[in-house]
Amino acid sequence: MITEENLVQENSAEGLLSPKLPHFFYGGDYNPEQWPEETWQEDVELMQQSGINLVSLGIFSWSKLEPRPDQYDFSWLDRIIGLLHQHGIKLDLATATASPPPWLARLYPETLPVTRTGVKLWPGSRQQYCPSSPVYRARAVKLVRAIANRYKDHPALVMWHINNEYGCHVSECYCDVSAEAFRGWLQQRYNSLEALNEAWGTAFWSQHYGEWAEIYPPRATPTFINPTQQLDFNRFSSDEILTCFELEKAALREITPEIPVTTNFMGFFKPLDYWKWASKQDIISNDTYPDPSDSISTFEAAMVNDLMRSLGGGKPWLLMEQTTSQVNWRAHNSLKRPGQMRLWSYQAIGRGANGIMFFQWRASKAGAEKFHGALVPHIDIEHSRIWREVAQLGGELVRLDPLLDSRVNAQIAILVDWENWWSLELDAHPSSHLKQLDQLKSYYGPLFRRNIPVDFISPDGDFSRYKAILVPNWYMVRDEPAARLEQFVAGGGTVVMSFFSGIVDQNDHIRLNGYPAPFRKMLGLRVEEFDPYPPEQVQQIQLKGGGTYQCSLWSDIIELEGALPMAYFKDDFYAGKPAVTRYGFGQGLSYYLGTQPEAAFMTHLLEQVCKEADIQAELAAPEGVELVKRVRGNEVFLFVLNHNKTPVELNVDPYDYNLLGNTPVEQTLHLAGFGVAILTGAKVK
Ligand code: GAL
Repeated sequence: MITEENLVQENSAEGLLSPKLPHFFYGGDYNPEQWPEETWQEDVELMQQSGINLVSLGIFSWSKLEPRPDQYDFSWLDRIIGLLHQHGIKLDLATATASPPPWLARLYPETLPVTRTGVKLWPGSRQQYCPSSPVYRARAVKLVRAIANRYKDHPALVMWHINNEYGCHVSECYCDVSAEAFRGWLQQRYNSLEALNEAWGTAFWSQHYGEWAEIYPPRATPTFINPTQQLDFNRFSSDEILTCFELEKAALREITPEIPVTTNFMGFFKPLDYWKWASKQDIISNDTYPDPSDSISTFEAAMVNDLMRSLGGGKPWLLMEQTTSQVNWRAHNSLKRPGQMRLWSYQAIGRGANGIMFFQWRASKAGAEKFHGALVPHIDIEHSRIWREVAQLGGELVRLDPLLDSRVNAQIAILVDWENWWSLELDAHPSSHLKQLDQLKSYYGPLFRRNIPVDFISPDGDFSRYKAILVPNWYMVRDEPAARLEQFVAGGGTVVMSFFSGIVDQNDHIRLNGYPAPFRKMLGLRVEEFDPYPPEQVQQIQLKGGGTYQCSLWSDIIELEGALPMAYFKDDFYAGKPAVTRYGFGQGLSYYLGTQPEAAFMTHLLEQVCKEADIQAELAAPEGVELVKRVRGNEVFLFVLNHNKTPVELNVDPYDYNLLGNTPVEQTLHLAGFGVAILTGAKVK
């Protein structure tokens, strides 16, 4: 029997987020500057008690660290770092550039961001900077250098936390400084105005540009703005903010080449192309705030966790922020139920996280976030439910080091393409109800409910790592990944693709040789027309040799060119025409969905796909029980997560040992409501 004691203890470098802290990370944002120094001693003692080993320090400290221009005050930071170090707490030290001090706006008002409609965003909140501002950038890098030079040799320094949630509040700026930067970016991309005019299709509506200076960001206009201009502005804005990150990173690399860097992501965050961003991170980290009062949260959180793992190519990632209990920014801020914080933490670990952190350590007594949950609540700390749960999780994580090196293996992937996301949701399209995230969920949901592990893959990713690739609404596609997807199927892979795919090239120009132009051969069909429906309307499709299902949103009118119909539309003038098709192409298989079928159909279809591609679920589980496996060599760790409020039982043979609680399991596992087990066993290979 494998038990905690005889598990191999050494982890390879790949299993560690940072070699300087070879354990599960456990901690949170720490804002000691909000408190008198007498509180600090209690803080570090409580941290020790609860198993905290890392704090993110100084995220919003710019105005304390540089109270006047070029006058730095590190004395308080020195003291708290010293105290933390004495108590064995490591540092995820922030570069403090997320919220500039008020003096920056007063001395350099051009650093303030401007919205699409021309509204300037003032100090008094946070993140009030234009990402293109040379002044902001120079001031930020100067501060970063000062911090890095001061703490570069500090033994507690484990990693750098660059800025914070880039783009969260200001993901685009339309000011004059940004307009100039946009022109520069366009010159790099197109070289000549001629090329830009061609790419933007400016022959339309008299938009032809005769000089670069005539070009603006897509500010408020009388009606629809040029789509390629909008798309390029999305690309520019993501790149421009990434440059801010890279400038800080370059300074840190020069001063502390060995210390890993991260900036915290926000799940499926549309404005930033996280594939591009991910390639610049040493550690992928994420902030996640699922709504405990929404039953879909469990599934959405899992999906985000899988994205984070995929962004890092499968390597361990860090849950940088979650709340212990509630947030303060929804209309109503439900509490996580007892056990739910622990459950969701293990969900992240099961899906590849090697650290669990929170916003924030101690609940603020002033400011906009004083009603936000924290590890240390306002009153009655040690008797509080929150504190007990925090200490319990901390006590468990210190014993889980043997899991650090294990990985999640998925054989099926869902394609996510940020540029496609931007262009798919541009205005003046056949339907404004077609949303990328809804479509991703329609594929992810059935697989999640069947406990089949899924990765996300970028258009530039290695398709050959998977048996099947699911491709929702790949509207805008470049030639090269389109050709690779075709090769993937020809070589034996399976693809499932939905409507409104292969429609435009990277300039958002229609591909004229029949929809879905680059995939017609692979799918064995042609789409002649699209018929989007009003949101409340549903239609019916008939599965060949099976039942009737509802569909919504959209009908493609499909002409077959080799593919076989799998389901038909039952309504309207295209009744009897194919709605879903299947085609053996080369050695592989392609499926096409010319509509959005209801979940039951998607489940049926994806089960068939998995069966044909030999992709298997782990064990059968009751409704609401999530299973996910981490594997190291021939050791398997099965996470069993009961998202129900009520207890469940399940047969877990051949697993025979629960690492949480160190208990043998005889065939049947009994789990309390919101309970978790991590199962292993000698017989499990
Ligand atoms: C995050 C942010 C934190 C805190 C938290 C509240 O977006 O990084 O600083 O504001 O939200 O939920």
